[in-house]
Amino acid sequence: MKAVLHQGSGLSGLRVDEIEAPALGVDEVRVRLEAAALNHRDLWTCKGRNAGEAAVVLGSDGAGTIVEIGEAVRDLAVGAEVVVNPSLGWLQGAEAPPDGFEILGYPRHGTLAESVAVPRANVEAKPAHLAWDEAAALPLSGLTAWRALFSLGRVAAGQTVVVPGAGGGTALQAALFAKQAGARVAVTSSNAEKRDKLRVLGFELALDSAADWADQVRHFSAGAGADVVIESVGAVTWASSLACLARGGRIVVYGSTSGDVVETDLVPLFLNWRAILGTTMGNREEFRAMLAFVNEHRLRPVVDRVFTLAEGVAALEYLAAGSQLGKVVLRVAAA
Ligand SMILES: NC(=O)c1ccc[n+]([C@@H]2O[C@H](COP(=O)([O-])OP(=O)(O)OC[C@H]3O[C@@H](n4cnc5c(N)ncnc54)[C@H](OP(=O)(O)O)[C@@H]3O)[C@@H](O)[C@H]2O)c1
Repeated sequence: MKAVLHQGSGLSGLRVDEIEAPALGVDEVRVRLEAAALNHRDLWTCKGRNAGEAAVVLGSDGAGTIVEIGEAVRDLAVGAEVVVNPSLGWLQGAEAPPDGFEILGYPRHGTLAESVAVPRANVEAKPAHLAWDEAAALPLSGLTAWRALFSLGRVAAGQTVVVPGAGGGTALQAALFAKQAGARVAVTSSNAEKRDKLRVLGFELALDSAADWADQVRHFSAGAGADVVIESVGAVTWASSLACLARGGRIVVYGSTSGDVVETDLVPLFLNWRAILGTTMGNREEFRAMLAFVNEHRLRPVVDRVFTLAEGVAALEYLAAGSQLGKVVLRVAAA
């Protein structure tokens, strides 16, 4: 099958090439992908791999049609239209996944390919209102955003939520979910053009990520501060994210793209009953709850740009350049 492969180190290790489709386990299904989506994780994977490692198919997100089922799979048929849940080995358990948890797309071969083999537990019915490109854009971002907002952030209608770096695929999904849930949502972006587009999407307060914006959030929330901040930018926004919190407010962190090491003054943290919570991905129940929310409200992820599978390397370079607003998708069927 044709796939976006990585071997070597850095983005120079990327190529689109043929690779043998992985064998199917007894409790697995093979999905012929219609579309797949990119995540910043694919870039971290390229950066982090050793030159001696075997070629891997990148990609955590995809949607397509079941074309083969393992012999122990009884409740799914060939032809079913599905989205792939990239959270492998985390069926239940609210606090953290069990040992053996991993994310699809390294070390296991991922979705930037004509097909992917995954455990049966990792496919769910595709939301019928979504086009293939939109369905492929949803899983990793939707799941991460869902757990961060609702399982950990306990976001409710009327609360103030801040999402820094909202040009990013996951952050924008979080901002959209929070808005749908009835929160008042402020966003930040490093790019003025993106801030304008975010205002058009309905986020009236769109701030410059690098500025000192805590007071503006306080003003936006009638002096109280943010109930929840969903952090993924890291070093660049950390000080404002902490400073803008209300008493009893929560920062939920799932990434640190601009830098991992930050300074935190502990005094305002404990004197204001604030919490810092870390999260990665989510369990199967959260994935299903996220899909139910998307179906109920007929939500659509924002797809910034669609490439073909053959253009996979250019698509990853585009993501690395950071000019996207929302998700970057590969149309596989058109390759
Ligand atoms: N733990 C998890 O389960 C999980 C899940 C998803 C993502 N993540 C992590 O979360 C981060 C975002 O992932 P993604 O796939 O959504 O990425 P993405 O689409 O590439 O978005 C990253 C965004 O972060 C902002 N950003 C990056 N560098 C910045 C800088 N130096 N200064 C200010 N803003 C900066 C930019 O937003 P603007 O363009 O708006 O400025 C950029 O668009 C990554 O680090 C990823 O590894 C973790």
